[in-house]
Amino acid sequence: MSARGIPRQAVILVGGEGTRLRPVTSRVPKPVAPVVERPFVAYILDNLSRHGVERAIFSTGFLAEAIEAVIGDGSAYGLEVAYAVEDEPLGTAGAIANCDRLLDEDSFYVFNGDVLSDVDLSALAATHLEKGGMGTIFLTPVEDPRRYGLVELREDASVASFLEKPGEWEGTALINAGVYVLEPEVLEMIPRGRLFSIERGVFPKLASAGSLYGYVDHGYWRDIGTPDSYLQAHFDILERQVKTAAADELGDTYLYVSPDAEVAPGARIVPPCYVGSGARIHAGARIGPLAVIGAGAVVAEGATVTEAVVQAGVVIGAHAQVEGSILVQGASVGSGSQLNSAVLGEGCVVGAGNRLAGGICVYPETELPDNSIQFYEQLRGREGS
Ligand code: GDD
Ligand code: MG
Repeated sequence: MSARGIPRQAVILVGGEGTRLRPVTSRVPKPVAPVVERPFVAYILDNLSRHGVERAIFSTGFLAEAIEAVIGDGSAYGLEVAYAVEDEPLGTAGAIANCDRLLDEDSFYVFNGDVLSDVDLSALAATHLEKGGMGTIFLTPVEDPRRYGLVELREDASVASFLEKPGEWEGTALINAGVYVLEPEVLEMIPRGRLFSIERGVFPKLASAGSLYGYVDHGYWRDIGTPDSYLQAHFDILERQVKTAAADELGDTYLYVSPDAEVAPGARIVPPCYVGSGARIHAGARIGPLAVIGAGAVVAEGATVTEAVVQAGVVIGAHAQVEGSILVQGASVGSGSQLNSAVLGEGCVVGAGNRLAGGICVYPETELPDNSIQFYEQLRGREGS
């Protein structure tokens, strides 16, 4: 028999490839991609340890070693971390079952590894205890549920139906937010050693058995699956929309400048803004609002960076303009170039005088010579200009 209580253990699913977030994730697995200078899953670990979880098991596959190298034994995050590595992707249920020898016989949390949220896990667990089902899902309302698991609830909070990625649906609905409390008996419903999805193979069955419940939380929630939502997650952290350790650093001024960053006299920093260790902001540069400047990054004189993520070691040349963009570590932008809604992969070198826009994604190590790309909103109507 399992002991029901507030869970002390959690499984974090981090085996997906994260292809939609390339080139941010071309070289680094999505779960440890830096978000305001911390590996993304650190935010999940913080929340778990805040709610009394002592042990997290990472269910890994794709780039498992790279995740382990960053997170290690978890001591930096205040809990113990273990790893269950798959040779082949087993799907979301198969991946949970693959952790069974590392789980004790009590209830456990499951987290999709790409969810940023400050959900009240203790309240989720309390609902689970009160309802007494095999599983309780954290639900959040979204305007367009078609990319998610659509959940219909009854008045008693039991799940009437669970439909993964409904083809058609209009209007706001409750979706599976990717965080659960499960009883160990659920593991017995999962066939071993083959691809099996919890959303398609387990939740619909539990729902029809009347043993699945929902806990609706209207707090902050975001899946960081695309460049746009990755960028937005940074803004939300800077704006302190979501409770995180970074929010504490930003404080009431919404501004963090590392004590060993160099900000030249005459440089302007407009909050919300985060400037990492060893970053150098030269005279006449303007950073923010909504900018993250990573460790050791350089912003040369007269350059502007607004609503953008500039990772560690990026170099932005004089009078360049970077807006609405993500610059992955080691990228550089030549003087006078303009980036608006662009993503530069690791180590990209954009020469001087280029103009990139429109959501363009440049893959790692690409080199663009000086004055080689111009982007215009539209080509027609430009005669004589
Ligand atoms: N270990 C392992 N093995 N992990 C996996 C595997 C696998 O085979 N497949 C997916 N994962 C991990 C991913 O890394 C991710 O953290 C999580 O499981 C969910 O997979 P996604 O690929 O991100 O699924 P999704 O975003 O399309 O849909 C899921 O999340 C939505 C909320 O964001 C579903 O759970 C939906 O029902 C839910 O609404
Ligand atoms: Mg996802």
